[in-house]
Amino acid sequence: MARLEAVCDLELNEQGAMPHDALVAAVAGKHALVSMVTDTVDAAVIEAGADLRVIANAAVGYNNIDVAAAQARGIVVTNTPDVLTDATADFTWGLILGITRRLGEGERLVRSGNWTGWAFDQLLGSSLPGKQLGVIGWGRIGHAVAARAAAFGMSVAHTSRSNAPGSMPLDRLLSTSDIVTLHVPLTGETRHLIDQPALARMKRTAYLINTSRGPVVDEKALAWALRSRLLAGAALDVYEREPAIELELLTLDNVLLAPHLGSATTETRTAMADLAVRNVLAVLAGEPPLTPVP
Ligand code: GLV
Repeated sequence: MARLEAVCDLELNEQGAMPHDALVAAVAGKHALVSMVTDTVDAAVIEAGADLRVIANAAVGYNNIDVAAAQARGIVVTNTPDVLTDATADFTWGLILGITRRLGEGERLVRSGNWTGWAFDQLLGSSLPGKQLGVIGWGRIGHAVAARAAAFGMSVAHTSRSNAPGSMPLDRLLSTSDIVTLHVPLTGETRHLIDQPALARMKRTAYLINTSRGPVVDEKALAWALRSRLLAGAALDVYEREPAIELELLTLDNVLLAPHLGSATTETRTAMADLAVRNVLAVLAGEPPLTPVP
């Protein structure tokens, strides 16, 4: 904030997610916008921000921004790659361990006051060694999640849009993996990539993990698959209509639900803020941005 204040007049929204009309009103006359994943920076915002030179999204995903509309007006759009890769990969493993070892159920049992003590066959989960981790999306975060698999004795299969060498076809990855983890950006192509047929392809003993974007999964179809025990479980950090959640998911024990915390460590959020600020300062100084989106 101090570094921005040194060169700009700052208007700060401290109210959490900003209503769209408030955002439209606020961008008028501004030269830079630092946006969050909860800000929909659509054509209306971009049109209202006629003086904008840079939109710095404090996130790696930028599906909340109409990049084409911004670029058509010569506005630079930046994101925060790299600095959040490890935090998000670590959190993904937190979810993998949490769902396979039934951590949510265990915690609910303890908090309910109904835990009667240790029992040999209580809340038995599923072990990871010897199993296959299927990584969908072979970018920075997908790679980092895969790099941690050896520590848990898992083999890795991956699929990528470009079908690069080593990539497994999606259908085969879905039908052979024990854990399927999503690391694709949200685009027209990936919306509902995991739909009812995709879920039906997965092993009944498999788990689905999503730390990417909610709409990559058809949440109603996922609730159906979990209810029908077509999957062993799912762990989600993101949702189709955040903060709303498909209500049935709240009633199912075989799903672990986190409130979009993938990159939420003090160190990582500080690094993301720092990168967003450096991008703003660079563009306002007439220099190239550090991490422009393509
Ligand atoms: C968070 O969801 C991000 O894209 O950084």
